[in-house]
Amino acid sequence: MATTVVNEYRLNEDNELRLEVSNEDVVIELLNGTAELFGTQLILHKRYTLPAGFRGAIFTYQGAVIEVIGKTDSAYIAQQTPMIIYLNTHVALEALRENAEMQLKQDPNSTVRGPRIMVAGPTDVGKSTLCRILCSYAIRQSRTPIFVDLDIGQSSISIPGTIGALYIEKPADIVDGFDKNSACVFSFGHLSPAVNLLLYKTLITELAKVVKKKCKQQIAANVGGVVINTCGWVKGEGYDCIVHAAEAFEVDVVIVLDHERLFVELQHDLPSFVKILHQPKSGGVESRSREFRALSRRNVIHRYFYGPRNNPYFPHTFEISFDKPIDEQELIVAKFGAEQLPESCLPYGMEPEEHRTKVVRISISNELKNCVLALMPPSVNKVDQTLLEKPVHGFIVITNVDMEQKILSILSPQPYPLPSKIALFSEVTFIDDENV
Ligand SMILES: Nc1ncnc2c1ncn2[C@@H]1O[C@H](COP(=O)(O)OP(=O)(O)OP(=O)(O)O)[C@@H](O)[C@H]1O
Ligand SMILES: [Mg+2]
Repeated sequence: MATTVVNEYRLNEDNELRLEVSNEDVVIELLNGTAELFGTQLILHKRYTLPAGFRGAIFTYQGAVIEVIGKTDSAYIAQQTPMIIYLNTHVALEALRENAEMQLKQDPNSTVRGPRIMVAGPTDVGKSTLCRILCSYAIRQSRTPIFVDLDIGQSSISIPGTIGALYIEKPADIVDGFDKNSACVFSFGHLSPAVNLLLYKTLITELAKVVKKKCKQQIAANVGGVVINTCGWVKGEGYDCIVHAAEAFEVDVVIVLDHERLFVELQHDLPSFVKILHQPKSGGVESRSREFRALSRRNVIHRYFYGPRNNPYFPHTFEISFDKPIDEQELIVAKFGAEQLPESCLPYGMEPEEHRTKVVRISISNELKNCVLALMPPSVNKVDQTLLEKPVHGFIVITNVDMEQKILSILSPQPYPLPSKIALFSEVTFIDDENV
């Protein structure tokens, strides 16, 4: 019988234990001291299961003893980390929150607000991790910030191909991160902003409107501020998207991780009241391959339908017929972006680029097979430009299209019938091999 590997790590203050879990789960336990994983405190003597493939760091400000049960691909103690810099950033943000809170108490109509901070940098510099740490530190001080993720490739709020905002009221789970149930999500439908830049910017503007409305309605959200994660595409048009997002969300602080040129360019292109900070990336951040990214995107979609391993969901599969007149159809699929018309064919006054944000209905075809569609809210009953302003209700997968029998097979978190009739097409696909 194979014996279980058990290792004990003694961390001095400001050290972190960097872990890479191999293909079997690992259990960790804080035996002594205090420690946190990306800002969430570990409870003394509580055992946490880290799943296969997990990568992360357990940091301690005061010193800690950590037990690791199981085989890891790598586990080592790092003495050099940027955590003190990140903590100082949090302290400065907290001072801004205190100030906003005080002024709002004196004058509820004051235009003062909590900090709006954006994290930018190339891929694999720890942007998502820093956002999680800053939100976790805020929540530990009883703040309720809004986390915004504009990274459509590796979103930590919803499935790939979307941008979203999450009002954070509870600490992040060590493994699962923040509770995403109340997320406000917009579907972009592609994995790179480059596919339709105008649409990406338009949806950022729409999301910013939702966030600003929330801040206006709720003082705690306003004081808590906004933490925005961005895409790792920092050149050319990708850079333009970062500048657009900074403007749309009216950010006051931008943290640039690692990338000096981006830091210099943003100083030049953003208004002078925006504080731009250049901070180092952690030596522990992993560089992920294209294949790994594709796999983690698949895992995120799988998790949306099938839940986490320790709390599985049981999605439904059903069929609907599309052999019906238009007004009786149970599912109408729309798309953002129409074919480009030659300029001479454009209606008077229409900008040539508007086709990119035009909402059009598409017909059911084999092209829909395995596509993840975003359902619009049940109140939506027609396909028009207002769909651009609507956060999604949920997602389904078209697992099969039978063009002869005119039947669609659907994977859905909810049983038949569909909660809404209109769905948005997305290029993002998911092959549901649990139901073959
Ligand atoms: N200090 C650390 N020690 C070990 N692993 C870490 C550390 N910080 C981050 N990681 C891991 O490195 C990976 C990349 O980090 P993260 O996702 O934050 O980078 P990113 O800049 O957001 O990447 P992307 O450009 O893909 O969005 C993640 O798996 C994360 O868990
Ligand atoms: Mg990221």
